[in-house]
Amino acid sequence: MAHESGAGTQHVRATGGRLWQLLPVDWGKIQEVTNEPVPGHIKRWWFALGGTPAYLFLIQITTGILLSFYYVPSQDHAYDSVAAITHVVPFGWFVRSIHKWAANLMIITVLLHMCRVFFSCAFRHPRQVNWVVGCGLLMCTLSLGFTGYSLIQEQLSYWGITVASELVSNVPFIGGILATFMRGGEEIGPNTLTRMFNLHVGILPVITILLIGLHIAVLRLHGVSELTFSDPRIQPEHPRLAKDLLGVKLLSLLAAIGAIGCLAAAAFAKSSFTMLARELSPESTRLLWLVLGAILATASALLSRGHMYGLLLWFGISIMTIAKLLFDLTHQEALHPAGWIAMAVVLGITAVYGVVRQNRFIEGKGADKPFNFFPDHIISELLIGTLLLFLLTLMTLVFPAELAEKANPLVTPDHIKPEWYFFFQFRMLKLTGLNTAVVLSGVLGVMVVGWPWIDALLEKIAPKRDLGIYIGIVAFLMFLVFTVWEATV
Ligand code: HEM
Repeated sequence: MAHESGAGTQHVRATGGRLWQLLPVDWGKIQEVTNEPVPGHIKRWWFALGGTPAYLFLIQITTGILLSFYYVPSQDHAYDSVAAITHVVPFGWFVRSIHKWAANLMIITVLLHMCRVFFSCAFRHPRQVNWVVGCGLLMCTLSLGFTGYSLIQEQLSYWGITVASELVSNVPFIGGILATFMRGGEEIGPNTLTRMFNLHVGILPVITILLIGLHIAVLRLHGVSELTFSDPRIQPEHPRLAKDLLGVKLLSLLAAIGAIGCLAAAAFAKSSFTMLARELSPESTRLLWLVLGAILATASALLSRGHMYGLLLWFGISIMTIAKLLFDLTHQEALHPAGWIAMAVVLGITAVYGVVRQNRFIEGKGADKPFNFFPDHIISELLIGTLLLFLLTLMTLVFPAELAEKANPLVTPDHIKPEWYFFFQFRMLKLTGLNTAVVLSGVLGVMVVGWPWIDALLEKIAPKRDLGIYIGIVAFLMFLVFTVWEATV
């Protein structure tokens, strides 16, 4: 029999009535398991970053399904179908651009999440298994990026597969088999695209969903790691970084003022008001101001960590703003300035309301005391999710996904370049040659996956010297330098 736990469950029972009894589930237990208090430091986005790639993955699934209605996975028609999505299908350019930018943001946020786990040593005992599961997720995310890019069948994406299959075929012992499997034969041909398509829309998403489920399950079993530092003197100082360094209230207020300014510009600005006027139509310029204003209002609300109702109100307005934006885009309509002003005023009031309520959330409840997963944490995630929607919309408006020339297997391009997240490896390949690059990639991969055990060994050899952290800093800087180096040549 289900056991009652807490007023919340009783309320659900009372309002849900018999409906709940139809399901033989212990709702009290479920509420207990899903609503364990979250440690205070998770209020900071940096420490709760894992939710962001999960959210972006949902956006990828949604936009990917929409794209699959028009994409034709055959070598003869793939490129033309992407061209049709970009230029003919209503909103095709929008969905494709969101899919592209969300993919890039997903990779960036997975890497950032990995950095936070690494530098806060959250992979240490007993969380080694979740680190390994995370490595699987990193592989899946990168592979989704690679296979997705190869589907476009433009020159660089085609030649990217050629270089990748060369790399794979040089893997000791199993390289030949792996490369043949990847290409679907001895040469790149129609089978290659079918394989990339299957991997991209079927196999990899399913593995990713399973791994995310496992990742969260293991996380729930261990609980999120607490913040611990080898030097106890710095412990109380640490989590209030943003507040201490910059003053959250001031930032929040500035963002609110900026938001109102942008929205006023959206209402009044002539197209010549912005440098983008040469590129964008007056409608798009206005939309750009609107999106910028909304982003600033979001930042303001996020920084203020206002009261739940204020945030929900703000959330509703944000969704309405996005809806209006899309409506304008379809109908190319210009809204009356009074409409913009009304929107600016409501957004501004909401943001200032958030500032006023900040004390209650941070000081009243205690910045570092545990808080409820639902609704407190979920609302923060919703805020971040909405902010990301705005960011993606902005990127899409300013840098819509384009299409380069069609793949030509007979003409090698002057400069072959993979996507930015493989720049590190590509630079390594250029510096060391094919064979060494393959071996180095393998060694680095094994080191990343086995890092919790390497770190434990380093701790044993030189306790409390934080050798692992220094190695991490060097590795991170190398990744950055190689990536920027490759990007600039
Ligand atoms: C699609 C990719 C990923 C998703 C959706 C994801 C999701 C999450 C979430 C929601 C958390 C809870 C805490 C937080 O939000 O930071 C978490 C924690 C964790 N993640 Fe990930 N993660 C991903 C990739 C990775 C990667 C690449 C690694 C490392 C190689 C990793 C290792 C860990 C570990 C060890 C924890 C426990 C940290 C702690 O207890 O403080 N994850 N992950």
